[in-house]
Amino acid sequence: MSLFFLSILLLLLPSAFSFLNDTSYFIDCGGSTNSTDPFNTTWLSDRFFTGGLTSVVSEPLHFHFPQEKTLRFFPLSSGKKNCYILPLPNGRYYIRTFTVYDNYDGKSHSPSFDVSVEGTLVFSWRSPWPESLARDGAYSDLFAFVKDREADICFYSIATDPPAIGTLEIRQVDPLSYESSKIGDNFILVNYGRLSCGSDQWGPGFSNDTDKFGRSWQSDSEFRSPTASSKFNSFSTLEKITGTDQAPNYFPMKLYQTAVTGNGILEYELAVDAKLDYLLWFHFAEIDSTINKKGKRVFDVLVNDENVSRVDIYAQVGSFAAYSLQYTVHNLSNTPLTVKLVPLVGAPLISGIENYALVPNDISTAPEQVVAMRALKESLLVPDRMGWNGDPCAPTNWDAWEGVTCHSSKDGTALVISQIDLGSQGLKGYISDQISLLSNLVSLNLSSNSLVGTLPSGLGHKSLVSLDLSNNQFSGPIPESLASSSLQLVNGRKEKQIPEAEVLDAS
Ligand SMILES: *[C@@H]1O[C@H](CO)[C@@H](O)[C@H](O)[C@H]1NC(C)=O
Ligand SMILES: *[C@@H]1O[C@H](CO)[C@@H](O)[C@H](O)[C@H]1NC(C)=O
Ligand SMILES: *[C@@H]1O[C@H](CO)[C@@H](O)[C@H](O)[C@H]1NC(C)=O
Ligand SMILES: *[C@@H]1O[C@H](CO)[C@@H](O)[C@H](O)[C@H]1NC(C)=O
Ligand SMILES: *[C@@H]1O[C@H](CO)[C@@H](O)[C@H](O)[C@H]1NC(C)=O
Ligand SMILES: *[C@@H]1O[C@H](CO)[C@@H](O)[C@H](O)[C@H]1NC(C)=O
Ligand SMILES: *[C@@H]1O[C@H](CO)[C@@H](O)[C@H](O)[C@H]1NC(C)=O
Repeated sequence: MSLFFLSILLLLLPSAFSFLNDTSYFIDCGGSTNSTDPFNTTWLSDRFFTGGLTSVVSEPLHFHFPQEKTLRFFPLSSGKKNCYILPLPNGRYYIRTFTVYDNYDGKSHSPSFDVSVEGTLVFSWRSPWPESLARDGAYSDLFAFVKDREADICFYSIATDPPAIGTLEIRQVDPLSYESSKIGDNFILVNYGRLSCGSDQWGPGFSNDTDKFGRSWQSDSEFRSPTASSKFNSFSTLEKITGTDQAPNYFPMKLYQTAVTGNGILEYELAVDAKLDYLLWFHFAEIDSTINKKGKRVFDVLVNDENVSRVDIYAQVGSFAAYSLQYTVHNLSNTPLTVKLVPLVGAPLISGIENYALVPNDISTAPEQVVAMRALKESLLVPDRMGWNGDPCAPTNWDAWEGVTCHSSKDGTALVISQIDLGSQGLKGYISDQISLLSNLVSLNLSSNSLVGTLPSGLGHKSLVSLDLSNNQFSGPIPESLASSSLQLVNGRKEKQIPEAEVLDAS
């Protein structure tokens, strides 16, 4: 009986999880019109941003596409943290950015800034950028899950530098792609190299070749180990390769139609950083028709000199068929990652290598506290310069929203707001009653603003030990919660008007 159910489940699972939806956005950051590029991608005029200004690169003729020539940047007047927030169905997404400077501001200072996706730090740009990056810009990409119906891509200024972005692409991909059922949905896969061996760069933004996920593929040539680079021979075929463009990864046929071989050991060096785990994918197809039985081409794959697998492509899948292997490297330090193909019989052959850092999702702010903080942002009319965008507390290695202090919750699973200091910020709004959701708030200081309205009844959780609302224009009674709490009114009267309510630590 249970076996019967199991087989039904196995039959149903693939279709239940199949890649049905195809939500995508291609945003021309800084662009004012919709446009279609030579590869037939339609770019939307800039939208979904929280702030910032637009500009144009200094040498527009140096760039191929209109969407690469315009950019959005976030000066400090827009706040230290700004985001693109895109409404989307929950699912797995491929996210790609084009980062460009090209001296757009005439200051000859490429900026330092960080980028997060869904509250997790993914890219760090540090001044001065390498010359080619500063001038040509660069594409960066990753795979991430969206679980809250919006993709948050946020930018954080380092040392007052304005973050900048040229384009933003986001495409829904198969939720089961890249081993997510094994790895789980709590990791972001950040691209540290996606190589197509024996070919030029291709894919969206580089050629008309398509890739269902929008992945672009780099030439492997600059990753060949200098000591071994003379040994590489490229070759290609126009024959059809079977087993390509299939769920869940939809690896394109073109990837397997080119390859490199060499007499002797083939070696690659991939740049890595941070102490992370890396997910490697190796792609093979036997495209030499003279290799027509097993045992004619056999080689070992070594990662950092550790033997990972013995490969006989023909024995696995025959010829003109795609064969992929994956391998996870644990706790890699910032030495280059080496991949060696060591021949046993014949010459080694490889079509592609992908290398992804497995970046664990950072903890984020408890969802109800995010709701409260967004409501407060609206009701208090918090000015743009304070950068109240994206997650109030995450990523943990950035400062929280200006004037906000966070802590991790008791069970360590979320971040919570413990302190809000917005004294003398020229605030003109009122206090949203959603503030009652901030159940870990220890201290609130809204003194010396022009806030109006009544004090919400939810103000004054047990956690609150310091409250300063002096020098505002509040009206109405003091809520029961406050009056009965351990807090003590210092300058206020427990009556209708509380022109100078100043409640200080009483415990
Ligand atoms: C596709 O979208 C529909 C409606 O938005 C949703 O109900 C369904 O769960 C989605 N499927 C996948 C695989 O994301
Ligand atoms: C661009 O296209 C989008 C969606 O098709 C549309 O909503 C928007 O108004 C267009 N923008 C401009 C500037 O034409
Ligand atoms: C470009 O896209 C449009 C619709 O999006 C399609 O009708 C057209 O055939 C495409 N052209 C090429 C050259 O792919
Ligand atoms: C891509 O294909 C379209 C339609 O066939 C063609 O007009 C365009 O020039 C091609 N672009 C490139 C860069 O090859
Ligand atoms: C490398 O590992 C494979 C199994 O993954 C094994 O078959 C092969 O013999 C090993 N090679 C060497 C040189 O030990
Ligand atoms: C990686 O490092 C962590 C902490 O340093 C350790 O707990 C873990 O066992 C290591 N994993 C492997 C596979 O070496
Ligand atoms: C509240 O902030 C103001 C500065 O805006 C400061 O002078 C005051 O001492 C603070 N109140 C408390 C209770 O710390």
